[in-house]
Amino acid sequence: MKKRIVVLASGSGSNFQSIIDSIKSGFLDAEVTRLIVNRDHIGAIERATNEGIPVDIITQNPLIDFDKRLLKSLDNANPDLIVLAGFLVKLPHLVIDSYRGKIINIHPSLLPKYGGKGFYGMKVHNAVIADQQIISGCTIHLVTEEFDEGPILAQRTVPVHENDTAEELAKRVLSAEHQLLPETIKYILET
Ligand code: GRF
Repeated sequence: MKKRIVVLASGSGSNFQSIIDSIKSGFLDAEVTRLIVNRDHIGAIERATNEGIPVDIITQNPLIDFDKRLLKSLDNANPDLIVLAGFLVKLPHLVIDSYRGKIINIHPSLLPKYGGKGFYGMKVHNAVIADQQIISGCTIHLVTEEFDEGPILAQRTVPVHENDTAEELAKRVLSAEHQLLPETIKYILET
């Protein structure tokens, strides 16, 4: 039986798309059974709709029972693997406890550098450039209670060029993410 992946996203969903494309090309023998988002009107929803993938919108407003609503959606989708692909909400303990070891996150830096609270999106790339780093990259790690601190599963480096803007660096890192994420998912599902 095909392995079941659930993706959680809050933004454009280009990493989500990289999983879809890898399934379509036959690289991944799996199916995305659901996309879960925390807000409406985002690119990830459009990508899911285009592919006929069911979407659950689970907002934190009201905050009441956010953990239970999220867990219910996950349980209904019965995932073998949960992928946080740009999900900008800290996962509730209840969810982490229920799926410990089965949740991965992708982060746009070489963790433990530039990780933790406040390091997301362009903030990461701006900091890398401000610190005159010559290498950056992306990391895939298991999700635990602490932001960006779970065991590291895979990393890929990219060069930081002299005079790079944060936008240029972000683009380079994102394209590394699009390769590393399907490769790591394949490794996890096959071992
Ligand atoms: C990626 O840079 C990822 O590392 C981070 O959020 C971004 C999501 O981008 N966690 P996208 O929505 O997949 O395009």
